[in-house]
Amino acid sequence: MTQKLRIGIIGLGIISAAHEVGFEQARNSAEIVAICDINEQRAQQRAAKYGARVYTRYEDLLADKNIDMVDIILPHDLHYPVCKAALLAGKHVLMEKPMTIHPEDGLDLINIAKKQAVKFMVAENTRFVKAYLEIQKMLEAGTLGEIYLIRTLIAGTEIYRMVDPNSWKGRKEGSGGGVIMDAAPHSFYLLRWLFGDIAELKAYANQIVPGSEVEDNAIIFGRLKNGAQFNLEFSFTVQAPWTERLEVHGSKGSVIIDQILNPPSLYYTHAQDYSPQPLKDVLYNPVNWKTDSIALGVSQFIEAVINDAEPPVRLVDTYYAIAACASAYHSLKSNQMEAINTQEGV
Ligand SMILES: NC(=O)c1ccc[n+]([C@@H]2O[C@H](COP(=O)([O-])OP(=O)(O)OC[C@H]3O[C@@H](n4cnc5c(N)ncnc54)[C@H](O)[C@@H]3O)[C@@H](O)[C@H]2O)c1
Repeated sequence: MTQKLRIGIIGLGIISAAHEVGFEQARNSAEIVAICDINEQRAQQRAAKYGARVYTRYEDLLADKNIDMVDIILPHDLHYPVCKAALLAGKHVLMEKPMTIHPEDGLDLINIAKKQAVKFMVAENTRFVKAYLEIQKMLEAGTLGEIYLIRTLIAGTEIYRMVDPNSWKGRKEGSGGGVIMDAAPHSFYLLRWLFGDIAELKAYANQIVPGSEVEDNAIIFGRLKNGAQFNLEFSFTVQAPWTERLEVHGSKGSVIIDQILNPPSLYYTHAQDYSPQPLKDVLYNPVNWKTDSIALGVSQFIEAVINDAEPPVRLVDTYYAIAACASAYHSLKSNQMEAINTQEGV
């Protein structure tokens, strides 16, 4: 392709800056030509940086024939309708997680993207976190042996947004749920990508922040089909920098990763190993580890579009992640262990 890929961004909220870093890194092959946000001033300001066209209605941006790919960075309830419209308009689509609130809508998007023959990827940054890529190599090499236990934590504060009446974070309608809908897709994606399918799960959730309509703390635990136990924790009420923790405990050793600890990773080779080593190449980067992974996802998706290659984050895995979220919410109601209900073959 001689012409650069022409990008339209829809939604200029908090995480859009990380996506822009990715576009900047891909500047030789892509350029931002249009910007859309219902907040016109925000859209104007951001567009000025790129000399981009400004829209306040996503329908108008999607009708712009001089856009090849859109990046959808919107509240959760808008993912399905805006992504569907973008795919039907023939655009390649990168979209933030969760794929959709309802799994059946996610499946619909997968089918539409197939029919339209365009590239579609959920911007699941988990796939691009350096520490997890290192774990992937260790698992492939069998370094940790048989995996018995996987623990994760995603934690930070969203209290200020949950109590803000102008934010969708604490509203059931805009968010589709609280910390489970918001953060669990990352951990479910991680489980499936690195460790395998879930046999059953159970969730417990708590609503601590007054004035919010959704859960702000949760634990989901269960068993993978390969027998490993998993415990996933999520919190919107932690007064420390945003972190993700992953513990992988196998028959030949353990790795503990925590993005806000220094060093952020430790590898234990046996039960009496009191001198664990940090993983080479996993650097202490508490401010930018998230941005770096999002930016890498953006630039790799652009590469896939340009080369007509499979995007690195598989749609079936991001669909699986939202199906697992649905099972977690179901288990809150049923108070039972739940299986993951996905369409046959996905
Ligand atoms: N990968 C990650 O780690 C990560 C981190 C944060 C957020 N996210 C995801 O990114 C998405 C956005 O989150 P955020 O924190 O940036 O939200 P935000 O509330 O900060 O931003 C949303 C933006 O969308 C705009 N908007 C709302 N309705 C619109 C419409 N109809 N048309 C055009 N613009 C509209 C708002 O004005 C706002 O600028 C969510 O899906 C969220 O889960 C992902």
